[in-house]
Amino acid sequence: MTILVTGGAGFIGSNFVLDWFAASDEPVVNLDKLTYAGNPANLAALEGDRRHHFVRGDIGDAALVARLLREHRVRAVLNFAAESHVDRSIAGPAAFIATNVTGSFQLLEAVRGYWAELPQDERASFRFLHVSTDEVYGSLDPGAPAFTEEHPYQPNSPYSASKAASDHLVRAWHHTYGLPVLTTNCSNNYGPFHFPEKLIPLVIHNALEGKPLPVYGDGRQVRDWLYVRDHCSAIRRVLDAGRVGETYNIGGCSEMANIDVVHTVCAILDELRPRADGASYAAQVTFVKDRPGHDRRYAIDAGKVERELGWRPAETFESGIRKTVAWYLEHEDWVANVTSGAYREWVSGHYRE
Ligand code: NAD
Ligand code: DAU
Repeated sequence: MTILVTGGAGFIGSNFVLDWFAASDEPVVNLDKLTYAGNPANLAALEGDRRHHFVRGDIGDAALVARLLREHRVRAVLNFAAESHVDRSIAGPAAFIATNVTGSFQLLEAVRGYWAELPQDERASFRFLHVSTDEVYGSLDPGAPAFTEEHPYQPNSPYSASKAASDHLVRAWHHTYGLPVLTTNCSNNYGPFHFPEKLIPLVIHNALEGKPLPVYGDGRQVRDWLYVRDHCSAIRRVLDAGRVGETYNIGGCSEMANIDVVHTVCAILDELRPRADGASYAAQVTFVKDRPGHDRRYAIDAGKVERELGWRPAETFESGIRKTVAWYLEHEDWVANVTSGAYREWVSGHYRE
């Protein structure tokens, strides 16, 4: 038995693969294009591990995917691969359509062809698990109930629209062709190996570099934060026991305004790595121009995955963010490694106004 993980060199995918091998010896074929966000260093702990088979390639390469599925007799595909950064989707949506929409379509077609040829018992137990986002549901007013799986899709950014499109394709491939799919829609993750273009690792990185901590608009936008290893455990649980064709919302029960997240990170840094001048890192907070179309609030109702599958997050935001800041302080070499020329170019272009 083998599983195929796509995007397994990215933030969540690499955490998933590492966690997988902590609990199982079942081999993983890891298909990743290694875009700017994919980093083989995330998987360094698996060097020489025969259970892990890394392949550099595109989910849109249907011939490659078909070959990997057949050669490794894959019993489940977990699709993490995506363009994932909202700001980049605003600056250049084409890559998001290419991977998240067309790539997902090609992947589904390759999987459908393979699955259709499997013997009856393997067809029945096969799973395609699609990893998606709460952003497909759009923005919530303050005080409105959290997103359930029945909430209408109202994506507002090129990123969320492209993820919504992929969710719809997955649904259609189940409804029309009977492909045994599962979809998870998760809130904001944070933790080790998070690329420092996203809020939390960016703030940690900039704080330590003595740079401004850029907060968009008034900083009162609300996100629901989930420690990445809790997301991984939820995905494993859905893969094992989720009902075919169903969608599961996954969240951390940790709604926070961005400015409060930034101040929490600053307070932990003040304690663990005080600034030389004794001032708080919070002095570096700088309010900058808002993200166009910025969604005001996301909140996840994770009641279904708890009721049906008994999953709950193990970490609170307080425990998870402390672990995360400590991880970044212990892995400054990892951050230096990913903050390559291409990364610096993006950051200097994006924050110039
Ligand atoms: P990421 O950007 O860190 O990693 C994406 C990975 O996919 C990278 O390794 C990249 O090289 C790879 N990739 C990109 N295009 C590819 C292609 N065409 N073929 C093969 N590989 C390709 O993203 P992430 O934060 O780890 O997110 C993983 C998934 O989880 C995405 O589908 C995202 O939409 C979803 N998600 C993310 C969050 C979050 O907070 N980060 C929350 C909910 C859902
Ligand atoms: O909700 C799930 C989504 O969470 C995932 O689907 C996305 O892949 C993931 O990137 C994340 O999207 P966000 O846009 O919420 O994450 P980001 O870290 O970019 O921003 C978090 C919040 O912080 C958001 O309200 C924008 C704000 N922000 C972000 C950056 C990068 C700032 O205020 N300043 C910044 O410099």
